[in-house]
Parts: sequence; structure tokens; C-alpha cells
Amino acid sequence: MNILKTVAAVLLLSLPVSHAVRAQSAPQADKPVDSRTWIGHAAEIEEYLRTVPILKFEDLSVGVTKPKKAFLPEGGPMKYLVWKVIPPGRYAGYWESYQGEIAAYEIDKLLGLNMVPPTVEKTYKGERGAAVMWVSSAKSFKDLGGKSAPTAPPAFEDAWARQLVKAKMFHNLINDVDPNLGNWLVDSGWHLVLIDFSRCFTPGTKMVHTLTRVDEPLWNRMKELTEASLTTALGKRIGKGEIRSILERRDKMQQLIDKLVKEHGEKSVYMRDVK
Ligand SMILES: Nc1ncnc2c1ncn2[C@@H]1O[C@H](COP(=O)(O)OP(=O)(O)O)[C@@H](O)[C@H]1O
Ligand SMILES: [Mg+2]
Repeated sequence: MNILKTVAAVLLLSLPVSHAVRAQSAPQADKPVDSRTWIGHAAEIEEYLRTVPILKFEDLSVGVTKPKKAFLPEGGPMKYLVWKVIPPGRYAGYWESYQGEIAAYEIDKLLGLNMVPPTVEKTYKGERGAAVMWVSSAKSFKDLGGKSAPTAPPAFEDAWARQLVKAKMFHNLINDVDPNLGNWLVDSGWHLVLIDFSRCFTPGTKMVHTLTRVDEPLWNRMKELTEASLTTALGKRIGKGEIRSILERRDKMQQLIDKLVKEHGEKSVYMRDVK
């Protein structure tokens, strides 16, 4: 996280979704693309990530955790994967671990969120790390050049607003303290993809984002989380204390939602499926 990233994150956080500016052009394509090609194929993609040989690496960023873009053989379900060898520890003052990347994917699956690309533990040439599916045809908010989330055209507006709310609920639950503009990707079909979770899951109940609305189906799934279900999904990745913190943040979200409902009424707080 450099200073620009920090400024970008603060700007993103300070802008309510409804006031997001149309400062940058949306990703264009003749036919809107859905870059979440893993949906419905998660198990086979996980297996591919675990077993695929790597042809060569390129540095992905100059950041402290040195993620790499790994080039893969032709003909597979993706051209690249992201290789993150981040042994648990402190980096530039932040607790980070490659296990956070895997835990974020596992909890995404548990919640049926479908925003985190498949991520598995992989051992490569004696090094252990997280292998993340490379999402083609999506651009980060940072690469789009704006100072906040891009504004979708009218046909996508409602679905886009709802995805942004879901992503913020997810960041709050997992304590993503690094939600900078480089970590949100969007494709031409206005599907949101979230990346970069090595700093997540540390304890604390401070909310990363302030929310005035919540997605009701996602909230219902968050309410169902228990220590047992989280331990089954994440027990290999994060510790007991970190699992309990997820539940503490969920309970804090419950208090905030109760307060919002009391003040504004259920209808204005819950984003509901149209029946
Ligand atoms: N799975 C992915 N699919 C597509 N692009 C990615 C993916 N992971 C990373 N990137 C690109 O690489 C950049 C850096 O990766 P990131 O995981 O955010 O590491 P860091 O912020 O620590 O440098 C991202 O902002 C994004 O542009
Ligand atoms: Mg990043």
C-alpha cells in the first residue's frame, strides 16, 4: 500500500455509491462479457490451479508482497494465474498471509457470493503459496482511471449498485483493510470481481465501509454463519480467534442494521429480490 493507494482507498470509501462519479469510461465490448468464467466449474478450476505447470513468471507489482503473474500452457481454462508466496508475517507494518487469499475464496463460496476468483494452496518448486485464477477481460477501478467506483449505464445501474453493496458487506465481514481501487475489477457486463486478500481476517470490529443499505439474501447467508460452519470452511487457513472475529463483526453488522431499520424502515435498508 503506497500513499496513492491510501488516498484512492479513502476517496472510494468516502463516496456513497449513489454519488459515484462517471469520471471514466466503462469497459467496452460488442457483447457484454462475464469474466467470472469459474461459476459452475469451481472444482475443476481449483484442480487445474493446483496441478498446472508454470512456464514463466512476470512481476505483477512493485508492492511489498511481490505477487507474480505466472504464464500457463495453452488450451487450459485460463492463460495465467497469480502466484502469491506470502508467508504469514508483518510486511510494512501490516499482518499478511497467503492463507488470507484462500480463506477469502472459501468464505465467498460458503456465502454464494461469486466475486472472488478460485484460489488454492499450491506448492511450486518447494515454495508454498496461493494460486489465484487470472480474470481476463476485467479491469481494475484504478486502471479505469477514476477516483472511485465507476458508474454503470442505466440498464446495469441497479445490479451494479447491489454488487457494490455486497462487496462492501464482504469487506466488512472479513476485515479487508486494503480495499484500494486496484483490488476491484469490473468487466464489460458490469460484473464485479474482488481480489487481494492477504491482509484480511485480522481481529477487530471496526467496519471498513459505512453502509446505509444491505443486500438481504447475502445478509441472510451471513446470519447463518456459525463457528462450526466457518471452521469447516476456513479452519485450515486461519485460527480460532480469527474465526471468532468474523462472527463478532457479523454481530456488529447486525447491531448497525437494526439501528438503520429502526431509523429508516426495512424497505429503505434491505435491497430485496423483486418477486
Ligand atoms: N486474479 C487476477 N486477475 C486479473 N488481474 C489481477 C488478478 N490479481 C491481480 N491482478 C492485477 O494485478 C494487480 C496487483 O495485484 P494485487 O493482488 O492487487 O497485489 P498488490 O496490490 O499487493 O500489488 C491488481 O491491481 C490487478 O490489476
Ligand atoms: Mg492490490
